[in-house]
Amino acid sequence: MRNAPLFLESDIKTIVERLGQDAQQFAGQTVLVSGGHGFLGRHFLIVLAYLNEHLLKRRCRVIVVDNHITSAAPLLKRAWRDGYRFIQHDLARPLTIRGSVDYIIHAAGIASPYYYRKYPLETLEVATLGTRHLLEIARQRPVKGFLFFSSSEIYGNPDEKHIPTTESYAGNVSCLGPRACYDESKRLGETLCAVFHEEFGVPATMVRPFNVYGPGMSEADYRVIPNFTSRIIGRRPLHIYGTGKQTRTFCYITDAIVGFFKALLRGARGQAYNIGNPSPEVSMLELAKVFQRVVRRKLPLEVIEYPDAYPSDEPQRRCPDLSKAARHLDYHPVVGLSEGLHRVMKWAEGVYTGSPF
Ligand SMILES: NC(=O)c1ccc[n+]([C@@H]2O[C@H](COP(=O)([O-])OP(=O)(O)OC[C@H]3O[C@@H](n4cnc5c(N)ncnc54)[C@H](O)[C@@H]3O)[C@@H](O)[C@H]2O)c1
Repeated sequence: MRNAPLFLESDIKTIVERLGQDAQQFAGQTVLVSGGHGFLGRHFLIVLAYLNEHLLKRRCRVIVVDNHITSAAPLLKRAWRDGYRFIQHDLARPLTIRGSVDYIIHAAGIASPYYYRKYPLETLEVATLGTRHLLEIARQRPVKGFLFFSSSEIYGNPDEKHIPTTESYAGNVSCLGPRACYDESKRLGETLCAVFHEEFGVPATMVRPFNVYGPGMSEADYRVIPNFTSRIIGRRPLHIYGTGKQTRTFCYITDAIVGFFKALLRGARGQAYNIGNPSPEVSMLELAKVFQRVVRRKLPLEVIEYPDAYPSDEPQRRCPDLSKAARHLDYHPVVGLSEGLHRVMKWAEGVYTGSPF
């Protein structure tokens, strides 16, 4: 990526406005953000920096833990004059933190299918050993909240009668196969959180994000939205894998980050929440058409076999039931797909090169 903002300023303002009074809970607090240099992690850091600048009487501090396996150090120093500590560390190994920690946001993970095919053991370890090591930190001190980033992938390939999918659906997941390192380790990560909550009172809450997207995604991320965006900018045909009929729902970053913060601050401990946007549920072919309407030109498509580097066996449908998040967290996504893609395109035009690989 060229040297350009990793987020939209207007998105950060929107998130803060929507958090309202809840944001005051961070005054004077120390927040540990694992995976803080990744796509979601960076948004947490920028929102907290914005709170310090504009809202909080007592500034909060952050401790960022990342090993940069899929990211690079972003230019965040400007937003954080002080109170920013970075620890370069692989969470597969134990971590010692001295001093107080009030909240832990465990967003470290290997989220893109391309990367979890490339790094299966690391994927498995960050969600299991990494989660355990952070839970140990939480157990040693009175933290106020612990948020674990699980995934909608823990549902595997849900059968039709469980779509939209509620949190109580146990999943249809294979412990073997190209996606198991991700799906199964996220499931175990959730179990660890539930056990640490039950046995030691750690206030752990889990979120299951459904395809979050937005400005700030790396051009070499390989997930579908940055992939299409890069190809559009490079005037290359969009590649649709398999039949193109597999569906997803997509959640814009502002909606998702509000949901994650609410889950951290208000979520029931020991429980999990779907965070996403239930509509529209679109196939990859339809997603290409939405892009076409957003950029107002015909986009050439090529339907191709799954590349070797991409784990096949992907879920055919994915759509969240958000009634639990609405009831418990007052979570309601508001950004439509066309509007979200429009913002991504606008941002990416100044940032993506069009041929990252
Ligand atoms: N973005 C989504 O749509 C989505 C959907 C479902 C789940 N999630 C989960 O949310 C979390 C954040 O996702 P993201 O989109 O920001 O991913 P990302 O890949 O952009 O960022 C993840 C960060 O974690 C770091 N990391 C990975 N392994 C680590 C380790 N062993 N030790 C320390 N740091 C490590 C990476 O270097 C990277 O900076 C991940 O756990 C992911 O599995 C995201």
